Amino acid sequence: MNEDTVTMWVARSREEFARTAPPTNFSPLPDIPAGRYVDPDFFALESKELWRRSWLYAGHIDQLPERGSYFIYPYGSAPVLIIRGDDDEIRAFYNTCRHRGAPVVRNLEGRAGPVLVCGYHGWSYDRQGALRGVTERRDWSSFDLKCRNLAPVRCERFGNWIFLCEDSTVEPLSEFLEPVARYLRHLPLRSLRLVHRRAFDVACNVKLLIDNFLEAYHFKLLHPRTSDRIFDNQGTSVHLWPNGHSMMLSPNRREDWVDPGTIGMPEMANTTAIERQYNPSYSLFPNLIVPISPSGMPCVAIWPKTLRTSVMEVLWFAPDWGGGPRDPLWDTRIANFDRIVDEDIQFAEPMQATIESPGFIGVTLSYQERRIYHWHEEVDRRIGRAVPCALRIPPRLRSYVE
Ligand code: FES
Ligand SMILES: [Fe+2]
Repeated sequence: MNEDTVTMWVARSREEFARTAPPTNFSPLPDIPAGRYVDPDFFALESKELWRRSWLYAGHIDQLPERGSYFIYPYGSAPVLIIRGDDDEIRAFYNTCRHRGAPVVRNLEGRAGPVLVCGYHGWSYDRQGALRGVTERRDWSSFDLKCRNLAPVRCERFGNWIFLCEDSTVEPLSEFLEPVARYLRHLPLRSLRLVHRRAFDVACNVKLLIDNFLEAYHFKLLHPRTSDRIFDNQGTSVHLWPNGHSMMLSPNRREDWVDPGTIGMPEMANTTAIERQYNPSYSLFPNLIVPISPSGMPCVAIWPKTLRTSVMEVLWFAPDWGGGPRDPLWDTRIANFDRIVDEDIQFAEPMQATIESPGFIGVTLSYQERRIYHWHEEVDRRIGRAVPCALRIPPRLRSYVE
């Protein structure tokens, strides 16, 4: 991030403090139709056209420390095996045996030996996904092993983060992330370590959770003793970028404020006033929330499970602390953020029942909630004409995309 960007973003936040109404050229946004949250057909459309055709955060390189280390990514259209090969490359494959479809590995994570052996009939694959052997070879005498390698899934990295995409036609990850990556590139993303991760189910549609993390309007009521004490929502500026990415920049209430729970922890190199005096909360479309502070980032990834259930993963990444166990301060820091997440989701489950009400026609959004509209606009751009007329989001924010 260059000095011009820092200066511009600081000015944007100051403008937010000063404004007394939305800009005069801002027209009220149309409602987001309720059906987008409750319609099973729309859920199926999103699964096929949005989630299977997006780059999705899948894990961190620290989860694959050695050759043969693997873990299962369970949130795709089918379980995906992500494994470090004999050449140290990270690859992804559907965890589906090419004989009759059994899972090749049965554990959610672990370290494979030189070959992965399917437990059903014993076919074996190497750690690069190639089929190496079939049992009872006499019955497969004319069989070409090369035709039955594990089916690959696209797998690319951004810093130490591993992303997957199940579709072969979408742009490369670097191209997709570029509109937001340029604001993160000054940070040492390749040396950030995985400190902690915790996944849990939430009984609501995925968009109720995603919407929540795209606005700061709820800070006063949901986070009165946590986020709202630290950040001044009146100065929160909103930045919309191509490909559905966005950011909200919330200033610390006091410029010299430092989280007492982080004192003594290593800090990232090259941070600017933006990371030190503000909370820049990036949204990497469609489902990764990345708020940055100099000593680490508590990220949230959210996936749909069913129309009415989602999975949320809370992740902490931090500058390398050298050898040995993590600082004991992390326990408190993680617990503090978990409290904020609990505050965030306290409305999600009860809302699933209330949005099914005939009285719920649509979501109405204010100027400062426009990141939500921007997110939905991108969903429709990706799904295209298959979105039913009654559920469409008329494009309104294009002139605001930077
Ligand atoms: S299903 Fe894997 S070896 Fe038969
Ligand atoms: Fe929140």
